[in-house]
Amino acid sequence: MKIISKVDELKAVVAQAKAAGKLIGLVPTMGALHLGHRSLVERARRECDVVVVSVFLNPTQFNNQEDLRTYPRTAEADAAMLRECGVDIAFMPTVEDMYPEPDTRQFHLGTVAEVMEGAYRPGHFNGVCQVVSKLFTMVEPHRAYFGEKDFQQIAVIRAMAAQQGFSLDIVACPCVREDDGLALSSRNVRLTPQVRRVAPAIYRTLRESLNFAQDHTVQQTHDWVVATINAYPEMEVEYFSICDGTTLEPVGDWNASADIVGCITVYCGDVREIDNIRYK
Ligand code: PAF
Repeated sequence: MKIISKVDELKAVVAQAKAAGKLIGLVPTMGALHLGHRSLVERARRECDVVVVSVFLNPTQFNNQEDLRTYPRTAEADAAMLRECGVDIAFMPTVEDMYPEPDTRQFHLGTVAEVMEGAYRPGHFNGVCQVVSKLFTMVEPHRAYFGEKDFQQIAVIRAMAAQQGFSLDIVACPCVREDDGLALSSRNVRLTPQVRRVAPAIYRTLRESLNFAQDHTVQQTHDWVVATINAYPEMEVEYFSICDGTTLEPVGDWNASADIVGCITVYCGDVREIDNIRYK
């Protein structure tokens, strides 16, 4: 595995692989790698000739500086995991390598980027689009892999790629969970033991809401999920949106779309956890 930090070197190595007719897969990450990332990398490994994994804690997507400050940083363990997975290139740039000039680009992507995380984390998706579009331009991958835990992020990246004319396959990969159902996240290490014990109730409640929804309206299902999770003193729902899985517009009833997803964000102590469930 080559560890590369300079953009020019990355471009040169990828260009060589492309000239040899290789299919290039990109897995963008912010490091603090866990089994969820590993599943993305393993899928890219199965489907592509050359696998590039970027490990870059992107400051422009953090609207909360405390979150950036406390985000886990585990570069050595990350490199070891990537080597073990048979990754060809680990791209580990510094902030100066990625942003030699401040990135002032503003992406206007409409509803998909404005609802939910877009509303609660102003500027977050603009930063995600800045870094992901830079990576797409540097690597020009045939495929890029993202986890469905960040359901809205995938919709935003698809919209950005269409708007900017990137032609690649954006591959959405299933969320990986702990045995008790908690979605894997780099931020889980920041949960206190007490909060960690109750956090699986998020996904358990979402799963139970599939039954509840059978004989209740969208609004009743929404309210039941929020009340059930908020009944735990350690947790507080920030938002829960039952929405169309493509446009992310909230739906008013179960017949409004053939593709309905519930997206939730919950404060578990001071750690923000996101998750989702497919209703249809
Ligand atoms: O999902 C993430 O880890 C990040 O948002 C991404 C896509 C790597 C961009 O920094």
